[in-house]
Amino acid sequence: MLLGHGHPEVMEAVLEQLPKGMTFFANNAKGVELAEAIVEAVPCCEKVRFVASGGDADMYVIRLARAYTGKDKILKFEGGYHGMSAEAQMSLAPDKRVNFPQAVPDSAGIPQGVADQMLIAPFNDLAAVEVLLSEHDDIAAIIAEPLQRIITAAHGFLQGLRDLCDKHSILLIFDEIVTGFRLAYGGAQEQYGITPDICTLGKIIGGGFPLAALGASAEIMQHFDESIVGRDKWLMQLGTLSGNPIAAAAGLKTIEVLKREGSYDRLRDIGRRLQHVQSSALDAAGVPHQICGDETLFDIFFTAGQCRDYRTAKHDDPAQNVIYNATLRRHGIFKSPGKLYPSLAITAEDLEKTKFAVEQAVSFISLT
Ligand SMILES: Cc1ncc(COP(=O)(O)O)c(C=O)c1O
Repeated sequence: MLLGHGHPEVMEAVLEQLPKGMTFFANNAKGVELAEAIVEAVPCCEKVRFVASGGDADMYVIRLARAYTGKDKILKFEGGYHGMSAEAQMSLAPDKRVNFPQAVPDSAGIPQGVADQMLIAPFNDLAAVEVLLSEHDDIAAIIAEPLQRIITAAHGFLQGLRDLCDKHSILLIFDEIVTGFRLAYGGAQEQYGITPDICTLGKIIGGGFPLAALGASAEIMQHFDESIVGRDKWLMQLGTLSGNPIAAAAGLKTIEVLKREGSYDRLRDIGRRLQHVQSSALDAAGVPHQICGDETLFDIFFTAGQCRDYRTAKHDDPAQNVIYNATLRRHGIFKSPGKLYPSLAITAEDLEKTKFAVEQAVSFISLT
């Protein structure tokens, strides 16, 4: 909800669309308009297809990479979140440490065969990725969150992935469900200047309604067209709510507002202030911490140690996090357990209220 809830222009767009049709199980004018806006904004998207949730989009892009390359294995980073598909549930938040590249399911009910098709690497470890690519010639793609949760890619890591994918003729997938239209209008790929082969988008592009998308070059997206690729290479994709016009109208208006001059500067300014409010209170109380992520998406790790991947992020003290978040909530500030998403709706008054809640939370932590 980058514009906040109930943004007047978004509500107006939704109300205007409602009597014209809520869902058609078919392409529709608003969906087409949104697709065109995405293609204009996001570097890797020549064509897009809509689904109803980010997890669906991630599931389809894994299948798409397999269809395009004719290979089965997917390299995923430990701790990376890509929805609820069987593949995405591999080594998302494993309790037990196994040796890389073994995949560990985070959910019951997933056949062993899925784990056998996944290779897991530590985020930010280009050397580990390089070894895996040289040892396995059956990898279809690397899937990555360009900002993994709140762990930033080390300098050169994303470019390194791009180069390795090119060298080994495999696809690079960026999961931009969170970062798309947030880190910049063109997402993390614009912000970091690295263009993946395929990306997924969600959240912001639906303006708070169920809508997500996947996009890539026209050549890769051909696999959704049976008349071009033939039945054996065709990837069937459909869904009742895919690209429904209400969500498309909300998303279109949302990104129209975001495109206006100064939106991203304002968002970064709000993010900086939210970071400052927290770091200054924690510094004053002498609580070891660091703020990780991007000004548009970040959180606190309660550790002074370096957090560069899932395992080192475990140095974070989860008990402190729980107390901190619960105290904020008691004072009217709701923050998700692992991330703080600044929004353009945050006012100076909200910042003051946040400052007060943060001070309470920090003093509570200092006492425990
Ligand atoms: C990076 C990432 N990928 C995929 C998803 C799944 O999206 P959805 O909840 O819309 O299925 C999320 C959800 O938060 C996400 O953060």
